[in-house]
Amino acid sequence: ALRLEVLVERPLRVFHVELEVTDINDNAPIFPAARKNLSIAESSVAGSRFPLEGASDADIGANAQLSYTLSPNEHFTLDVKSSDENRKSLFLVLSKPLDRETIPVHRLVLTATDGGRPSLTGTTELVISVLDANDNAPQFNQSVYKVQLLESAAEGTLVARVNATDPDEGTNKEFSYSILNSVPLGHKDLFTINTKTGEIRLGGTLDFEGVRLHELQIEATDKGTPPLSGHCSVELEVLDVNDNAPEVSVTSLSVPVPEDASVGTVVALLSVSDRDSGANGRVRCWVWPASPFGLEATFSGSYSLVLREALDRDEVGSWSYSQRHSRSLCVADGAGKSDLMVFSPNFPPPPPGPAAKDTQPEPSALLGTGRRASVEVSGASGALVVSSRLDREELCGKSAPCALRLEVLVERPLRVFHVELEVTDINDNAPIFRVTEEALNIAELTTLPGSRFPLEGASDADIGANAQLSYRLSPNEHFSLGHQENNEQSATLSLVLTKSLDRETIPVHRLVLTATDGGRPSLTGTMELVISVLDANDNAPQFNQSVYKAATNVWLVVAICAVSSLFLLAVVLYGASRWAPRAAVLSGPGPTTLVCASEVGSWSYSQRHSRSLCVADGAGKSDLMVFSPNFPPPPPGPAAENGSAGKGPSLSPLASSLIPYYRLYV
Ligand SMILES: *[C@@H]1O[C@H](CO)[C@@H](O)[C@H](O)[C@H]1NC(C)=O
Ligand SMILES: *[C@@H]1O[C@H](CO)[C@@H](O)[C@H](O)[C@H]1NC(C)=O
Ligand SMILES: *[C@@H]1O[C@H](CO)[C@@H](O)[C@H](O)[C@H]1NC(C)=O
Repeated sequence: ALRLEVLVERPLRVFHVELEVTDINDNAPIFPAARKNLSIAESSVAGSRFPLEGASDADIGANAQLSYTLSPNEHFTLDVKSSDENRKSLFLVLSKPLDRETIPVHRLVLTATDGGRPSLTGTTELVISVLDANDNAPQFNQSVYKVQLLESAAEGTLVARVNATDPDEGTNKEFSYSILNSVPLGHKDLFTINTKTGEIRLGGTLDFEGVRLHELQIEATDKGTPPLSGHCSVELEVLDVNDNAPEVSVTSLSVPVPEDASVGTVVALLSVSDRDSGANGRVRCWVWPASPFGLEATFSGSYSLVLREALDRDEVGSWSYSQRHSRSLCVADGAGKSDLMVFSPNFPPPPPGPAAKDTQPEPSALLGTGRRASVEVSGASGALVVSSRLDREELCGKSAPCALRLEVLVERPLRVFHVELEVTDINDNAPIFRVTEEALNIAELTTLPGSRFPLEGASDADIGANAQLSYRLSPNEHFSLGHQENNEQSATLSLVLTKSLDRETIPVHRLVLTATDGGRPSLTGTMELVISVLDANDNAPQFNQSVYKAATNVWLVVAICAVSSLFLLAVVLYGASRWAPRAAVLSGPGPTTLVCASEVGSWSYSQRHSRSLCVADGAGKSDLMVFSPNFPPPPPGPAAENGSAGKGPSLSPLASSLIPYYRLYV
């Protein structure tokens, strides 16, 4: 409100005018800046709040009542809290977690609308940059890389190039490759991997006769905190090269050969082998130079050198010898010395002919030739004795059936018996984990339930059901076991997170993984899993008070006082500058009382007429306000006649631009 006093000179009257300026909605809400940059971590959980600066509106009342809206989007909502009528706190609320890999920058428009009619709006752009969290593990473009190499491949030959990518940013995107392990175990050093390019090269020489299929487990681990890793495997099939010459060895020789030896008499037993496979391992044998001796294949890789023609032409023998006697026996793995296997030679009746002289073919000696000398033939009794502990795992490894091929030689008459001894498996090996304790690091919060962490399974040297492993995890509400059967040999074992971790509640989880084989009775092996929960920045700094009373802070009081004083001063100066040009007719609000003297020196009376007028704020030059003085009749008195004479200040009509007056300060 503007308070005016209007002075009428003849007769002297004062009118008090109060001019109230009412507000119209001529100011739009204004934000402090047209654009605001915000950075929000990708790992922020839904419900996180980010304070925003509200807009201000220079109008008052409903014209300054602001409401806010956010441009449509699926991740953010607004929360407006009115602590009192004038102050509103504005928060951006994350309603759905962000993913930097999908949208790295969100652009939203925040609109403030005032309550005027018509209403005015102000906008600001919110540019929200999503800060990367290491939420993506490096991913290989293939889960299995199959390659073939000749066993003759030179050292340094490129085996495979694996390729992983990580969609994160910065160091979370950088990763390095490594070879975790190899199957069969112990051949890891044969390969080298370039940690940057993923090129796998031969660091030694391959041997088809040793290992035909190498399987390498490759890991790519990124440099984020916590680091995440991806896995793949490389299957290298070794192709045979004819790099082994056939070997011939004489296992038994019966010399000298008597002149009367019949045709077909076995003179020597030979064994021929070639370590190559397929066509490279097939051998052809012949006797050179031409002689009365010939070769007869008896058993795979075994040959008898027999007499083809009688050495003495007078005694032409009519029977040839080459008889196969095969028997299969089963011996349990782990059978010790005490076990006896009786082997009765069960000689066939000698064929009729000149050789029939030896009607009583009493075996004079038995010679056993086993692959590994665990079996002996006991003298003339013909018993096969398991002479030392048999270990199926040592003899045959994982291959089944495990057969020992023996050739038992009866010297007089010379006969060969082939014995096949099958060593059966007993459950004498417990499952073994490569390590007894494995440490895992898992990030809280960013690691979502359902995440899998590959575990290295146990191995069991037995075969069949004795090596069929089942796994069990000590009860824990945060983890369970997940495994998929790839094939019967390797099941992919993984730890599955079933419930989000919180480092602030439990920083370390200790679990026991038990592997049990399918033998009767079964054997078990255990491994401890130590899971450290890595900290994520999931707790904002907390104030111990949500409201700090300003009165407790002297400096705040001083600052508020200073700002208020400045504001008051500005209002006063503004008022002064607005009213200065009208000073001629109006006197501003203040304690001064305006009094006019008549020429006779008697003080005239001052009657107050108050009227309130309303002027709309923003009214331009064209708007007119009519003010009718509505004078009351002048009071009678001497001053009425000599109004214009005398040396007192001459009073001019109200319209005059200059009204002289005395100002009396009381
Ligand atoms: C916001 O970021 C842009 C670049 O992204 C920059 O040009 C601008 O100055 C920033 N504004 C503020 C207020 O920091
Ligand atoms: C790996 O794959 C990505 C995309 O699949 C490709 O851009 C990149 O060049 C590949 N790296 C190598 C070394 O081949
Ligand atoms: C995977 O990456 C390797 C190396 O860059 C490439 O040779 C191979 O073709 C890729 N495989 C697929 C399925 O893209």
